[in-house]
Amino acid sequence: MLTGKTVIMGVTGSIAAYKAATLAHMLKKQNCDVNVIMTKNATEIIAPLTFERLTGNKCIIDTFDKNIQYEVKHISLAKKADMVIIAPATANIIGKIANGIADDMLSTTVMACRCPVYISPAMNTSMYENPIVQSNIEKLKSFGYKFIEPTEGLLACGDIGKGKMPEPEDIAEYVYKELAFNKDMSGKKVIVTSGATMEAIDPVRYITNHSTGKMGCAIARAAMQRGAEVTLIAGHMDIAPPPFVKVIDVKSSEDMYNAVISEYKNSNIIVMAAAVADYTPVTAAKNKIKKSDSDMDISLKRTNDILKYIGENKEDRYICGFSMETENLIENSAKKLKSKNADMIVANNLNVKGAGFGTDTNVITIITENDTIELPIMSKDEAAHRILDIIIS
Ligand code: CTP
Repeated sequence: MLTGKTVIMGVTGSIAAYKAATLAHMLKKQNCDVNVIMTKNATEIIAPLTFERLTGNKCIIDTFDKNIQYEVKHISLAKKADMVIIAPATANIIGKIANGIADDMLSTTVMACRCPVYISPAMNTSMYENPIVQSNIEKLKSFGYKFIEPTEGLLACGDIGKGKMPEPEDIAEYVYKELAFNKDMSGKKVIVTSGATMEAIDPVRYITNHSTGKMGCAIARAAMQRGAEVTLIAGHMDIAPPPFVKVIDVKSSEDMYNAVISEYKNSNIIVMAAAVADYTPVTAAKNKIKKSDSDMDISLKRTNDILKYIGENKEDRYICGFSMETENLIENSAKKLKSKNADMIVANNLNVKGAGFGTDTNVITIITENDTIELPIMSKDEAAHRILDIIIS
């Protein structure tokens, strides 16, 4: 995901420096060229050798290190870097950068960088809330430096409060968002529906389906990483939504319909990956728990067809629906393309191994007005990118 990208990782003297090793490892696994610059204090917490082994690059500490090849190292690194991430960042490094102090390799290199700089503060709550630190953060934000909010919890000093460095996998998401994939969807506003809607029978029971939200989340994540502004309208999902997307949680099909109606005008692309329940119970049982089977007098009515509604009101938006079939996959899905006035139907054959609900893979056929593209089994993330490639083209 990060092939050809160079990241400078700044590691400073907060106890959270140990987490930076995992971050470096994660980025390296994505083929990133990771260059770690440590402050002297950080080397008291974690050995430079750890980073050297994990990244394959020399870990830089001192501006005047005699072992570094002859060149103006801080300038050459700063020129090469696509992004700087300082994690963990102490109050000291934040203060130095905010005030133009460049007295070691990290502060000097950051000053020479033109690429985006992300800073993940990690310190005791009182230090973090200190008005001087806050004012330094505000000053840096005004110059375009980006901050990763510290989380709350039990700090190494025993206090409970804000100041923890987020987990490495959460910080890595900032790097992926900044550097992974071409930003060929920037400027596009995308709505993705995902997961399963739930239709209440009574206050305890409901009708739903097996959707876990994995495919919808993969599309939302891929679009976000390609630069789109994404709104995820999420029914019940078994996984957490991707970061950096606006999430609107819904329960019933009617909730999802209302959320789509209120959002879709402000969008260019709509992908309906949710498994929307086709029917909802309409009985008094909805409001009270059934006492006997005779009380369970359920009659069903069809839910509003959301895809059909937006198809009829699509104007110049691109609309993609999904279709789950157990027989006549192509024929039935092609019918949906027409009947719902969609631009694309992604068809899933539920009888094929590796396709459908809950799996991490999918076997899809992409149907548009002019093409029917059968794809082999692939991860849902890859399938999401293939769908977006065609939408964008
Ligand atoms: N869909 C929708 N609103 C509904 C039902 C479905 O927006 N009330 C959307 C789904 O999100 C999907 C597409 O329509 O993108 C096709 O859904 P599917 O259930 O396969 O088709 P239906 O139109 O419901 O027809 P059937 O269930 O009879 O196959």
